[in-house]
Amino acid sequence: MSTSQVSRELFDSVMVPTYAPAKMIPVKGEGSRVWDQEGREYIDFAGGIAVNCLGHCHPVMVDALKQQADQLWHLSNVYTNEPALRLAKLLTETTFAEKVFFANSGAEANEAALKLVRRYAVDNFGPEKDQIISFKQGFHGRTFFTVTVGGQSTYSDGFGPKPGSVEHSDYNDLEALEALMSDRTCAVMMEPMQGEGGIIPADKTFANGVRALCDKYNALLVFDEVQTGVGRTGELYAYMGLGVTPDVLTTAKALGGGFPVAAMLTTDKLAPSLKVGTHGSTYGGNPLACAVAEAVFSFVNTPEVLEGVVHRHQLFRDALERINAKYDVFSEVRGKGLLVGAALNEKYAGRARDFLNATVAEGTMMLVAGPNVLRFTPSLIIPEADIEEGLARFERAVAKVVAGE
Ligand SMILES: Cc1ncc(COP(=O)(O)O)c(C=O)c1O
Repeated sequence: MSTSQVSRELFDSVMVPTYAPAKMIPVKGEGSRVWDQEGREYIDFAGGIAVNCLGHCHPVMVDALKQQADQLWHLSNVYTNEPALRLAKLLTETTFAEKVFFANSGAEANEAALKLVRRYAVDNFGPEKDQIISFKQGFHGRTFFTVTVGGQSTYSDGFGPKPGSVEHSDYNDLEALEALMSDRTCAVMMEPMQGEGGIIPADKTFANGVRALCDKYNALLVFDEVQTGVGRTGELYAYMGLGVTPDVLTTAKALGGGFPVAAMLTTDKLAPSLKVGTHGSTYGGNPLACAVAEAVFSFVNTPEVLEGVVHRHQLFRDALERINAKYDVFSEVRGKGLLVGAALNEKYAGRARDFLNATVAEGTMMLVAGPNVLRFTPSLIIPEADIEEGLARFERAVAKVVAGE
């Protein structure tokens, strides 16, 4: 079937309606530019929801994929493989972790993390230590366990009985968390910056306080770095900036730069609780995925790229503040690195989608984080000229929404 035979209408006739994609269909990408079926060009500030960390079709990724494609595609975990071992070595050399479990998506990495903390608690303290605490508005994926641990019940309601012993506390509120904690607490799971929940960074004191409470109650700390990991915040992982070391960390999205791959990282102390037969995945550690991830991760983990993220953050922040001074649409511009949120002020409450649609119409792809926050998660190496042009288009969109067009 050629491109011309595939239309957006086909989506509605052949796809389960879990998504409501844009009207245009992108067909090609290069760097931070994307073209649709009509040849219209867009600047990509969405980055596949914080995935395309090197933009589209970066030669480093393409070469790694092509080389591996001629070597070995898949084995299953009945055999190990060289790219998986190389990637695991890299992840353990560059983070707190000593052991790695590979998965295919953020939700699966989190599912593994949740099973690990429960099994570790059963092994070491007994079955009563089963309480998992996470945070309101948090997001951890769409499997039934991860969506239950996520902090928006609208995503988990309506599917029958949920996994039990999961409670939600207020983010950045240490007192509220301590009130829920006891020796029954098995683990606390958090994003170091809430992404889907509205781009809300954790306070340093809060994050350090959570670590201390976990230590006090023999509970494990799980950082979901699916969105914040692999350079997104200007550190390799956000925990490094917070100065808090978790017991378990999950990473996905940018890890493969667009190739599906995820990992759960943990320590020598915890890992034995997931012994042979307790967990697994057919595709986890797939050689194609790991070869691409090794190339992406090595490219990102350099001072040049990470400092570039911090610099680009400032470009976004300055421009958004300037646009706000002119049009008075935001109550706050926040976030870290290239996970930037612009919260709409009261006058525009609930209208994030209108801004997004107007921006796409002007030729810039972007995201929202809930009904009130505009979200920017471009490539970590997006050229400054593309930032400038993309924001100029965004400004035109803002002007149109403000004018009521
Ligand atoms: C913090 C966080 N955790 C988990 C997930 C789920 O990842 P995936 O969609 O790859 O399963 C997401 C996705 O947006 C996320 O932002």
